[in-house]
Amino acid sequence: MILSIISAIGKNNELGKKNTLLWNLPVDMKHFRDLTRSHTVIMGQKTFASIGHPLPNRRNIVLTLDDSFRAEGVEIVHSVEEVMKLLGDEENFVIGGGQIYKLFIEKADKFYITHVNAEFPEADTFFPVIDKAKWQKTKSEKYGKNELNKYDLEFAEYTKRAF
Ligand SMILES: NC(=O)c1ccc[n+]([C@@H]2O[C@H](COP(=O)([O-])OP(=O)(O)OC[C@H]3O[C@@H](n4cnc5c(N)ncnc54)[C@H](OP(=O)(O)O)[C@@H]3O)[C@@H](O)[C@H]2O)c1
Repeated sequence: MILSIISAIGKNNELGKKNTLLWNLPVDMKHFRDLTRSHTVIMGQKTFASIGHPLPNRRNIVLTLDDSFRAEGVEIVHSVEEVMKLLGDEENFVIGGGQIYKLFIEKADKFYITHVNAEFPEADTFFPVIDKAKWQKTKSEKYGKNELNKYDLEFAEYTKRAF
């Protein structure tokens, strides 16, 4: 089983504000769709609310502490341990948000991080600091801004350093 984290973050690890994203980046949405298609995605209840529906063609797992929470088309779980028991052999993706990344960061095997080359002072949710002693960048692809995608991006992958 591979547990991966996928996220897009600003220069100061900004993730979101007022339960929405800070940017509209179609190229990153495509990157996300291509990587996660047919896989399991794991998200917090707030990220699920922000998306507004289950992500199609994927197994959706939603974490909540609320025992009465119900939603169509998703599997609802109440702890990290419960999530881990549900995961199959294939690659599984933790897709956010801030609270849920924190819960899984120590368990993850791999990060797919889109670095958005801009600062977002209005952000209220942040990705945890990536410990460079533990994680090494193993892939990097730059993407220049254009009419549809307002910011310069780097599609990066990180894997755990061997000690
Ligand atoms: N840039 C990106 O790549 C990206 C990706 C995803 C999300 N986002 C952004 O991130 C923001 C949302 O993140 P967030 O940190 O506010 O919320 P979140 O992580 O999406 O969800 C938080 C919720 O998860 C549940 N939860 C937390 N700890 C739990 C635990 N130990 N066990 C079970 N359930 C638990 C709780 O749900 P209950 O309240 O129901 O108990 C909590 O309110 C939004 O702005 C969104 O747009 C950005």
